[in-house]
Amino acid sequence: MHIDIRDVSHDYQTNQGLLPVIKNLSISVKKGGFTAIVGPSGCGKSTITRLVSGLLKPSKGSIFISNEKVISPLSTVGMAFQNPVLLEWRNVINNIILPLEIVSKNLKYNFKRKRALELLKLVGLEDFELNLPSELSGGMKQRVSLCRSLVHKPEILILDEPFAALDAFTREDLWNVMLKLKSEQDFTCILITHDLREAVYLADQVIVLSGRPATLQYTVKSDFKKNKTISDLYSSKATKLLSTLRQQIEIAQSKNE
Ligand SMILES: Nc1ncnc2c1ncn2[C@@H]1O[C@H](COP(=O)(O)OP(=O)(O)OP(=O)(O)O)[C@@H](O)[C@H]1O
Ligand SMILES: [Mg+2]
Repeated sequence: MHIDIRDVSHDYQTNQGLLPVIKNLSISVKKGGFTAIVGPSGCGKSTITRLVSGLLKPSKGSIFISNEKVISPLSTVGMAFQNPVLLEWRNVINNIILPLEIVSKNLKYNFKRKRALELLKLVGLEDFELNLPSELSGGMKQRVSLCRSLVHKPEILILDEPFAALDAFTREDLWNVMLKLKSEQDFTCILITHDLREAVYLADQVIVLSGRPATLQYTVKSDFKKNKTISDLYSSKATKLLSTLRQQIEIAQSKNE
């Protein structure tokens, strides 16, 4: 397994005392796999992303990446969030190369630019290399953010609701951009989302978490054909899967403490 979350629990220390957020959670993602995690708001999904990337240490249990225990932040992980958080004073290319400036300090600028341009081309933004973030639409900013999360060729990509703030059509467009990026660069992916269609379309495994403290409530495989299109989401197989997941979300919400 590439990512192995083994019997992890996490409590936050808050003003009101200890807040149990994750309880005895075990999740495995195989190399090159794509796992989507859904669950009620506030159940602990973003906490899982911080635990897997090594930004937070679990109160109990361990996380293993390629059989090595995660004990500190990892440079082999790329991350993208709901808010693209681009640096306003840097143009598109210089935003994308940021992780390379941290992880591969000695690389020549031209090499970094070439790598960033490859990605910009894949997401259809090759003509916007020199634009500032303020000159881009929301969907374009999110494309740049995806390029930035992949520029250092991470083995693992963690996405925390990256498409949530976009309109439905731009979102679907970016799902296909995501599939294209994945086919070019075979990373292992964890996607946090509230959008069941997004989970079913992109992932090969969908996990439903219970309400807080999050435990594993339901796991299902999502095995669309390789060259899928958005219209496959309207097939009877997909509709059935979506309906099952919707029911599971209702159960999770009713159990939120
Ligand atoms: N640094 C922190 N200190 C204390 N409590 C925290 C901290 N971060 C998150 N929490 C609490 O932990 C719980 C889970 O938060 P988390 O952000 O992981 O939820 P989430 O599932 O990502 O929610 P959403 O779907 O709304 O993004 C929440 O109750 C939140 O208040
Ligand atoms: Mg969150």
